[in-house]
Amino acid sequence: MKRAVVTGAAGFIGSHLCERLVAEGYSVTGVDAFTKYYDRADKLANLGALDGAPKFELVEDDLTRMDLAPVLADAPLVFHLAAQPGVAPSFGEGFARYTADNMLATQRVLEAAAAAKCPRVVWASSSSVYGDAAAYPCIEDETPTAPRSPYGVTKRACEDLAAIYGSDGLSTAGLRYFTVYGPRQRPDMAMRKLCEALIDGASFPLFGDGSASRDFTHVADAVDATFRAGLAERVAPIYNVGGGHEATMAEIVALLEELSGETAVIDRRPDRFGDVKRTCADTTLAQRDLGWQPSVGLREGLHSQLEWVRARRRGLSRTGRFARRSTAGAAPVRATA
Ligand SMILES: NC(=O)c1ccc[n+]([C@@H]2O[C@H](COP(=O)([O-])OP(=O)(O)OC[C@H]3O[C@@H](n4cnc5c(N)ncnc54)[C@H](O)[C@@H]3O)[C@@H](O)[C@H]2O)c1
Repeated sequence: MKRAVVTGAAGFIGSHLCERLVAEGYSVTGVDAFTKYYDRADKLANLGALDGAPKFELVEDDLTRMDLAPVLADAPLVFHLAAQPGVAPSFGEGFARYTADNMLATQRVLEAAAAAKCPRVVWASSSSVYGDAAAYPCIEDETPTAPRSPYGVTKRACEDLAAIYGSDGLSTAGLRYFTVYGPRQRPDMAMRKLCEALIDGASFPLFGDGSASRDFTHVADAVDATFRAGLAERVAPIYNVGGGHEATMAEIVALLEELSGETAVIDRRPDRFGDVKRTCADTTLAQRDLGWQPSVGLREGLHSQLEWVRARRRGLSRTGRFARRSTAGAAPVRATA
């Protein structure tokens, strides 16, 4: 039987990955703590399409303290996406959450996966590990890592942790995702805020002068790379996963204005400390090893996100009716948020 465990299953990328795995014939156990970073209702809605799917079950528990052994007992493929994301909130008191949900959770997943002899752990790193690079595009083993935020530091530390378990025989693949967008994008992310502002006629807070650029990656492409990293016979420890569509925020505003037929009301704010000026991925390695190629164009991708936000605003999105089940033999389901 093909079986996989996905942590962060109720999140943006994790929920899409669960759907892909189920569609590919996997029995999937999703683990999620429903942390309070954003609404529980949003996360339940993310799981809407899996509601009642016989091959999906959800364990609601916290990776920083749950017993992972029962969930990993039959050595499934592990996709570890759970984390505390976001750059700005990683400064100040918020950092405690990042050390727990990123570093401690990852160490516990790696430890348990090694003990259970899981064939592979594919896990979510971030383009944030690069910081402001001296040259672009960033190449995995050539561009030095120099995170500019505490969030980036925790992801960098997770890469070191994965390397340690990797040197002891665990097969790991860390994916440096570059700004993932599309339906279900987290509510704290700029593109989601911009789509909502355009549809609601509200103002959009733009940090900096709009010239900062990101290598945007559609969630379908991010999920495809993640799935392929689980299946590939051999993997490198780290892959860039970038959509190949670098654009400035000013360009994104213009494109979304055109697609929505609305004019954005821009609330200009100063640059935020910790945000980098540019991201741009070299994806030669992922293309070579994983046979992966991003396929969703920026215009098409933005359209998919805008339509999702519109449908959600109209109340057409599926609601969070997801009924939690416990995995046979797994840690009991318990609410943590
Ligand atoms: N979205 C992006 O653009 C992006 C870019 C780079 C890296 N990443 C990484 O990809 C992964 C997924 O990101 P996302 O945007 O889907 O975020 P998300 O917040 O939507 O999903 C993360 C999920 O993890 C869960 N979680 C957090 N701590 C947990 C814990 N201790 N135990 C169990 N569950 C826990 C949360 O409840 C949430 O549902 C994260 O690791 C993130 O750092 C995302």
